[in-house]
Amino acid sequence: MTTPHVGILGLGVYLPARKLTNFDLEKMVETSDEWIRTRTGIVERRIADAKEKTSDLATKAAARALKDAVISAQKIDLIIVATISPDSNFPSMACKVQKALGASDATAFDVSAACSGFLYALTTAKQYIRTGMVKNALVIAAERISGFIDWKDRSTCVLFGDGAGACVLGKVRSGGIIADFTRSFGKYGHLMEVVAQEVRSPFDPQRTMPAQLPRVVMRGQELFKVAVNSMAEAVEEVLKKAKMKKSEVDCVVPHQANDRIISAVARKLGIPKEKIFVNIDKYGNMSAASIAVAFYEAVKTKRIKKGSKVVLVAFGAGLVSAANVVKW
Ligand SMILES: CC(C)(COP(=O)(O)OP(=O)(O)OC[C@H]1O[C@@H](n2cnc3c(N)ncnc32)[C@H](O)[C@@H]1OP(=O)(O)O)[C@@H](O)C(=O)NCCC(=O)NCCS
Repeated sequence: MTTPHVGILGLGVYLPARKLTNFDLEKMVETSDEWIRTRTGIVERRIADAKEKTSDLATKAAARALKDAVISAQKIDLIIVATISPDSNFPSMACKVQKALGASDATAFDVSAACSGFLYALTTAKQYIRTGMVKNALVIAAERISGFIDWKDRSTCVLFGDGAGACVLGKVRSGGIIADFTRSFGKYGHLMEVVAQEVRSPFDPQRTMPAQLPRVVMRGQELFKVAVNSMAEAVEEVLKKAKMKKSEVDCVVPHQANDRIISAVARKLGIPKEKIFVNIDKYGNMSAASIAVAFYEAVKTKRIKKGSKVVLVAFGAGLVSAANVVKW
């Protein structure tokens, strides 16, 4: 029996309507549009409203991907949500999406791999399909990261935004996701983390409530270097697995953390910047959702066409890196 090809059958995104521009941020912290644009490439980002939860963003993107794939929720037998900003520790976002969509036959769980989450989820779902455990999978990346940002810390608050992207995976006759690479470097965990999640203890009355809301802290410069190296390595490794040369790549969709990181990766790999899809200006860093949304936009704007060979590549807190080659 030949191993089936697994490909993307449909794509969808959901982006909250409300925009937060660099000029809005100028009124909140000591920063400037010029600094943010030149250091990161970001112009504006979307912020979910107070009532919109991560699971709502995930469900809306997923419903659109199902429509695009022309498949009903009842035919989905696996749902994976990549997120580091869930509504709560449990139930999982995937179970909430399952309920909202009425995908009653699906197995549902979340994946936590920060900005690489969408690619980790894609690779996981692909293996479920290849081994015959499931037929159709819904892979969603959804982040409401604004809830974990210290909006008084200019070194982090200018970088992030909220959003969600989703895709339906299933068997295809040829092409599809033709290679995968994942790697983790726990030793770099301190470069970006969520702090102030104090553990409550029944034996210590002082520690029954968290002292402060959880918030993202980051060592930006150190992270920058590791990001460039790990993304370049991931591209080299995944191309080896796909038995492809860099010159054969039509489009690279990288994680959108900083346009200077993206340029440095392109230089290191010797891939022309024109082949790299960038939309960080509109959304900032949406963690796991960045690649899902960028991939959708690259397809819908015909930067990715039928037959295009595409490399998806990410790095994220953990530190975790990942890449996939997709033949569209
Ligand atoms: C965060 C990042 C944009 C900062 O850019 P940088 O060029 O490294 O800037 P630095 O941290 O060296 O700061 C330079 C100066 O700008 C200041 N600064 C930092 N944030 C600022 C802001 N929003 N507005 C204005 N000034 C700012 C710093 O205080 C520093 O001032 P100083 O020279 O007087 O000390 C960059 O390091 C980066 O993108 N790192 C990777 C982050 C990342 O990828 N995170 C997500 C992982 S998925």
